[in-house]
Amino acid sequence: MPSITVEPCTFALFGALGDLALRKLFPALYQLDGAGLLHDDTRILALAREAGSEQQHLSFIEKELRKYVGQELDEAVAQRFLARLTYLHVDFLKTDDYVALAEQVSAEQSLIAYFATPAAVYGAICENLSKVGLAENTRVVLEKPIGSDLESSRKVNDAVAQFFPENRTYRIDHYLGKETVQNLIALRFANSLFETQWNQNYISHVEITVAEQVGIEGRWGYFDKAGQLRDMIQNHLLQLLCLIAMDPPADLSADSIRDEKVKVLKALAPISPEGLTTQVVRGQYIAGYSAGKPVPGYLDEENSNTQSDTETFVALRADIRNWRWAGVPFYLRTGKRMPQKLSQIVIHFKEPSHYIFAPEQRLQISNKLIIRLQPDEGISLRVMTKEQGLDKGMQLRSGPLQLNFSDTYRSARIPDAYERLLLEVMRGNQNLFVRKDEIEAAWKWCDQLIAGWKKSGDAPKPYAAGSWGPMSSIALITRDGRSWYGDI
Ligand code: BG6
Repeated sequence: MPSITVEPCTFALFGALGDLALRKLFPALYQLDGAGLLHDDTRILALAREAGSEQQHLSFIEKELRKYVGQELDEAVAQRFLARLTYLHVDFLKTDDYVALAEQVSAEQSLIAYFATPAAVYGAICENLSKVGLAENTRVVLEKPIGSDLESSRKVNDAVAQFFPENRTYRIDHYLGKETVQNLIALRFANSLFETQWNQNYISHVEITVAEQVGIEGRWGYFDKAGQLRDMIQNHLLQLLCLIAMDPPADLSADSIRDEKVKVLKALAPISPEGLTTQVVRGQYIAGYSAGKPVPGYLDEENSNTQSDTETFVALRADIRNWRWAGVPFYLRTGKRMPQKLSQIVIHFKEPSHYIFAPEQRLQISNKLIIRLQPDEGISLRVMTKEQGLDKGMQLRSGPLQLNFSDTYRSARIPDAYERLLLEVMRGNQNLFVRKDEIEAAWKWCDQLIAGWKKSGDAPKPYAAGSWGPMSSIALITRDGRSWYGDI
């Protein structure tokens, strides 16, 4: 039996036939049902613009659910879950269509309205919900991207805020729902061992890598307008940076955590025009190999514009202007068509202050805390020990103290990020969601980079698909006498 209780709700999913809903949201809701975390009375309204019979759309959703849950699908859970579903044809811009929706929502339950639609229609959906009397007690969930810069994100947020207050607005960054990301908070604040060392006295630098093996996979139209900075750095990587860099919050409440994250975002040093060439690298993949197979370059992908100068890779050095992190660079790197899927944070500790070992071993001597977000979720601390053996003398080697989550907690399945996030919306807990001022501070910092790129007119640097990015991303870190963590 689950140790938490979840109130019944009506879950209205706008954009129910879209890729995100089919690939992530229905499977996540199904898993919650399987774990006993959907109340018996919870109902799910699948809302989409597509005409056609309800039966036809529900059968399609069922087929996709079976595909994405795969072999582990439990027939009894699937039947119970599918029985909760109703399909409604709704043109999101037409108020009349919301009348039928309102008839489906019980006054005794709270409504959760999840917008898996383009952000351009969030305002209209909110207005229509309000017009048919569905704004009271409703929580709205907003998918990313919310805008493409500070100004456009403000417009979206302001349009939503006319009808829904901040404490009922849940902005998704699915990285915050990943188990290991939440573990960052436990690791930092439940282990005095780390927290006492977590500052510029002991840490020399931090690396955050979010690499993807996939290319653009049929999303060219969306991606080309965004690029890797807007698609990944503005949200996922900056959120990871915040969780690593923030000061201890007073408690675990949503606002205490988010207050600390905003302080970090506001303390990010702007990148100067010179910094744009020494501190930031943009790349775009050209043809190469992925998992041993030849793959096309970004400009040769289906539906591409062969003149595009959108970046598919970004590496940069960020500096945080505060007492804790003065002089500690944060190196961020993310790209498509990298050699493997890997999300990892490496905290590099400083060398011991007085050195007594052989001079040629000096470079290796520093502890590293490696937090692996995916795949093979786990935490490993590289510590220095003596080589074993009579013939070895005081030869040092770096070895891991390792915690692999799936081996250590063998019984527990690692839930998908969306399962956690949907559960927290149902529980009314906002601490894994992004507040308006966080989004705005992140956009503000990214906007100056985008403006700088635009002004310089420099094209992104090419890198072969299947490589770790342009050579200049290696120079970015070696210039500071460092290298990207070696085993990748
Ligand atoms: C999404 C981006 O937010 O995150 C995608 O829009 C990216 O481009 C995806 O592929 C990566 O998520 P994950 O969980 O697979 O690392």
